[in-house]
Amino acid sequence: MKIQKLKVKGFRSLKDITWSPGDLNVIIGPNGSGKSNLMRALELISHSAKGGLDEFIRREGGLDSILWDGTAKLVDINLTTFPHKLSFSKSSDFPRAKTLDYLLDYKLQFYDNAPEINYYCQELLSAHLRTKKKEKAKPIELIKESIGGSSVFNEFEGKLVDTIGGDFFETILSTLPSILPEYSQLFKYKKELINWRFYHYLRTEPDAPIRQPVITQYDPTIEPDGSNLISVLHTLYTGNRDFENSVDLAMRSAFGDDFDKLVFPPASDQKIQLRIRWKSLKREVSALDISDGTLRFLFLITILANPEPPSLVAIDEPETGLHPTMLSIIADFAVDASKRTQVIITTHSADFLDAFHSVTPTTTVTECVNGKTTLKILPKKKLKSWLKEYSLGEMFRMRQLEDM
Ligand SMILES: Nc1ncnc2c1ncn2[C@@H]1O[C@H](COP(=O)(O)OP(=O)(O)O)[C@@H](O)[C@H]1O
Ligand SMILES: [Mg+2]
Repeated sequence: MKIQKLKVKGFRSLKDITWSPGDLNVIIGPNGSGKSNLMRALELISHSAKGGLDEFIRREGGLDSILWDGTAKLVDINLTTFPHKLSFSKSSDFPRAKTLDYLLDYKLQFYDNAPEINYYCQELLSAHLRTKKKEKAKPIELIKESIGGSSVFNEFEGKLVDTIGGDFFETILSTLPSILPEYSQLFKYKKELINWRFYHYLRTEPDAPIRQPVITQYDPTIEPDGSNLISVLHTLYTGNRDFENSVDLAMRSAFGDDFDKLVFPPASDQKIQLRIRWKSLKREVSALDISDGTLRFLFLITILANPEPPSLVAIDEPETGLHPTMLSIIADFAVDASKRTQVIITTHSADFLDAFHSVTPTTTVTECVNGKTTLKILPKKKLKSWLKEYSLGEMFRMRQLEDM
């Protein structure tokens, strides 16, 4: 699945934006212009499929924090996707559907029945999918049946609202049962949304989860906090020759020929640890002693070299803590990853932008005007003609990208 278009209203600084990303995206813009908010909006979608949206919103600081200026009445997200590779192409549930729309409204409802406090608010959530060809967005019937007694129509909106969980509202998608064959395509859609991965700042201090030994298990996708890096590395490095070669190549490009191999000796309690073997050192270096930058580099390479990545991988400021020479390697891996998945990277690094010479990424510039984020995708033709004379990084340094 690939995002064709994303519309967001009322979410943090994204008062009203429309964005049509490409396969490989870089997002640039000043601090506070809304780059991370864009990623957060996508995370909200992913959580709406996973379930536990309430918890996610609580962690984000509550509805008050996420509604634009605290005054917006609802968060309205409309996601249009189309199939990437095989997913949905043989769909029987959506025979004519080229694209799928997913609408998500998250709003406050006010009641005047609490005399002491002016109002009592309740979070109300509705979500539904529609095919492009249908004129009106309409909840898919089979979902209504699946929820049986616990589904109701919101009188005002005419939309299907799921009330599973008593006081909490979960999306229809998150409560979709996996066992019924008629839901198989929808379930795939849901799984793809759940699998989207977002990587913000990575903790690498000595007791950070990323450095700790792990129980061995098959684990192909890295969690945002890196806690399963060793598990994922072990799964892919020992199980996939291409991945192993890619990581070895990246490590040698970054650290020279002294890099030998990653090894995974046993630790206590059936756990395994990560060590790096250098040709010049007798003793392998343990994950506890690997430098912060090396660990971040390994983390990024593991995300991007994944042979079967989630359908969306978003990385917030990958340059953090990395030497500029590493950035060109990360960029090469990002280009390669974008052949398998949609890649979104925010950055402030001209060195990183410089590294995209063979492929011109879809470049989005964010700006915050009067408390609202604006997004602008740079026109490819114009960008390409500039790129004949300058690199992307040079144009970034000259403030040319913002003004294009
Ligand atoms: N509910 C909200 N309403 C309006 N603006 C918000 C809201 N929540 C956060 N912001 C603004 O979003 C900005 C942070 O955006 P962010 O995406 O983190 O920036 P960056 O581009 O640096 O990643 C801050 O300036 C903050 O004021
Ligand atoms: Mg940010």
